[in-house]
Amino acid sequence: MKKHNTTEQFTLFMTDTEPEVLKENTTSDPVELVSFRELVPEIKDTGYLTHAIFAYPAKFIPQIVRYAINTYTKEGDWIVDPFAGSGTVGVEAYLCKRNAVLLDLNLLLNHIMPLKIYSGKDRLNEADLCKLLEGMQESRHQFTPAWSNVAYWYAPEMLEVLSRYWGFINNTDGGVYATVIKSALLKVSKRFSYTEDRTPKLAKSKRKLKVIEELLKENWREQLDEMLYSLSLKTLKSLNDFVMHTQQHQNEVAPEIHWQGGVDSSYATVPRECDALITSPPYLQAQEYIRSTKMDLFWLGHTEEEIRELSRLEIPYRKADRMIQTETLDKVREMLTRNDLHKRLDSYFCHTVNALENSMKQLKRNAAACIFVGNPRIDGITVELWRILAEYFTERGFVFEKVYEDRIKTRKLFGARKNKNPDGMKSEFLLILRKNF
Ligand SMILES: C[S@@+](CC[C@H](N)C(=O)[O-])C[C@H]1O[C@@H](n2cnc3c(N)ncnc32)[C@H](O)[C@@H]1O
Repeated sequence: MKKHNTTEQFTLFMTDTEPEVLKENTTSDPVELVSFRELVPEIKDTGYLTHAIFAYPAKFIPQIVRYAINTYTKEGDWIVDPFAGSGTVGVEAYLCKRNAVLLDLNLLLNHIMPLKIYSGKDRLNEADLCKLLEGMQESRHQFTPAWSNVAYWYAPEMLEVLSRYWGFINNTDGGVYATVIKSALLKVSKRFSYTEDRTPKLAKSKRKLKVIEELLKENWREQLDEMLYSLSLKTLKSLNDFVMHTQQHQNEVAPEIHWQGGVDSSYATVPRECDALITSPPYLQAQEYIRSTKMDLFWLGHTEEEIRELSRLEIPYRKADRMIQTETLDKVREMLTRNDLHKRLDSYFCHTVNALENSMKQLKRNAAACIFVGNPRIDGITVELWRILAEYFTERGFVFEKVYEDRIKTRKLFGARKNKNPDGMKSEFLLILRKNF
């Protein structure tokens, strides 16, 4: 494995096999420079099989998860992810014959997982899907999201068509085919709205208003149907590829993947003992996962009240109820002058650590906690998340094993927005802690 001196910040000294105690090495850092894409050459495309069916901000690349699974778990193990997002850990766990417990505040997880780990025995066929899609044209049902503002986001004629399509799909017993179409309808409902689909958050833009204006002058109905058909067929193909790929499981006991969206991991109890934690906590700022997926949640039938409640619980947009202190975090606090940023920092660490601690309590002795974080900047100050978490957990008996540094090349954070440097990050880090008690 490649080792490298990162001249700006780190000096490397770790060997592959030697676990180190962080406290003993305060001047030099045990960072191992890697490229997870290169370490896992068997995954050639980050969107392979079912990974790309749903857009989600700041997804894990599957190579990181696969590397952690291969290195720190064995077949039949249980993995916990308290910030499961779009379920990357669940998909990789399933493919590698591991079981998983997935939790996330975002209710989207409950809609995503049945497709992403589709475990039907037979291949799905295009003809059945197309029959259902054709039926939509004759829809007599109407579904309008319970969203007081919905008319603000759509041209009336587009909203009418979308409402009929959703009405049809919510009232059919098309089974997995209906679920496939719903996943496509989510993307179509965003594309044919005024929200800017180049950024994750719900926001009107001049560009998008113009796009819709132009579409209305054209054959937009045909374009909408075309998009719906091609996305549905693409998803069907992903599911069939997944079925083919997992056929080897079919004479064995299938891995168990349990998921629960709508859970505040900061206060949740993980329902069982696990052999590893693999997770990527929310970013320190500027992500707003609930706001980013609000339109999807409304179309999927969630209410304003539910969504408001979720936004209130999102890290780091809520009050801290205890102060996390570590050497590095306290240094950041000393440098930070803005009061609002102090509050955000306190909230971030309080609730992120709570959630990690809840899961890590359920780890068995010798289990690894693999935590993937960035190195965000806040008011020009770099916050070394991995170091702060390592300091916090080694104080509480965990052993620091190593930290991998993966330089960000071009990470697609959402849609067309290629963000090489979210939160000012240059690298991302996979921190490995070991529970030896
Ligand atoms: C970096 S994303 C995880 C992405 C995930 N690894 C994936 O591949 O899709 C962080 C997640 O933390 C979730 N989150 C934020 N606050 C939370 C809370 N209080 N409890 C549980 N999850 C929370 C967000 O909804 C988001 O999905």
